[in-house]
Amino acid sequence: MDMLTRSLLLTMANSPNIERFVKKNGMSAGFARRFIAGETMEETAAPVRALNDRGMTVSLDYLGENVSRAEEAAESVAYYLRLLRFISDNNLNANISLKLTQLGLDIGSDVAERHMREILEEAARYDQFVRIDMEGSAYTQRTLDLFDALQPDHKNTGVVIQSYLTRSEQDVEKLIEMGARVRLCKGAYDEPREVAFQNKTDVDANYLRLVRRVLKDGNYPGIATHDELMIEGTCDFAREESIMPDRYEFQMLYGIRRDRQESLVRAGYRMRVYVPFGTQWYAYMMRRMAERPANLWFVIKNLLRR
Ligand code: FDA
Repeated sequence: MDMLTRSLLLTMANSPNIERFVKKNGMSAGFARRFIAGETMEETAAPVRALNDRGMTVSLDYLGENVSRAEEAAESVAYYLRLLRFISDNNLNANISLKLTQLGLDIGSDVAERHMREILEEAARYDQFVRIDMEGSAYTQRTLDLFDALQPDHKNTGVVIQSYLTRSEQDVEKLIEMGARVRLCKGAYDEPREVAFQNKTDVDANYLRLVRRVLKDGNYPGIATHDELMIEGTCDFAREESIMPDRYEFQMLYGIRRDRQESLVRAGYRMRVYVPFGTQWYAYMMRRMAERPANLWFVIKNLLRR
């Protein structure tokens, strides 16, 4: 997809008017179902179990971001606390992923930190892991600072590094030193050239460079990508360095490259599927559209079919 279309879709991701239109026509038309497991945690149990039955683990993401009111942030926390219990009560093989702006980072770092500690303490009671997703570059430093503050007291958390950011090589070295758990992805936001590589070749080259670092010296990294070259590059490097497949995991998004998810499991690799759910699915969906024209056509076809 050309950069202009990608940029346009990512701009639409932040437009409340377009969001209202798409949401009115979205879940009911069924297209969102391809990428979103449901609107409530109860609805996710069956799809999560189906993935578990196929040998895959899951990370559950209760969708939501950029909350501006303290009550909303508190509601997200309460929901995540319930979700942790739900996972345990239903014996699901799943951990959780969340966004700091969903926990009030826009209100203040102290608010997000307090909420994170509450969630991490509850998660520890269930022996559970909590992944902090990485958002746009305006949040990178604050997210890493907060992670820095939490990690000494809470080993059950990990963060995400995006290979499109030029700073990531340095960040990865620091996280390796800390013994932190890192998920590596390319990055899903529209970033300026001052902070991010602008073409795919550079983003991919950096991805493979960072894969080698986290595989060799990192702590159980998550290799999050659907890109065949990144997957093969990971397998090749691991083989060359005799890094066993239980030292890392591949991660892919729900509904994307399901055939490849299965074939990696059959080949003996670990696969975690990131399963988003909830009513706040618009921005997430738009980022997936921006990644691939075929997904955009999938949506348009479904809208026209109504
Ligand atoms: P890329 O987009 O370069 O595509 C390469 C190939 O992969 C395509 O040609 C196609 O074959 C396939 N493919 C990619 N996307 C597809 C799609 N949507 N549908 C079908 N095929 C597709 N980002 C972020 O900024 N912060 C985060 O915290 C996370 N978290 C995260 C978790 C997990 C588990 C995953 C898999 C991804 C993320 N991401 C993310 C998103 C990530 O940054 C990135 O935007 C997407 O994964 C797309 O990049 P790829 O590496 O898949 O390759």
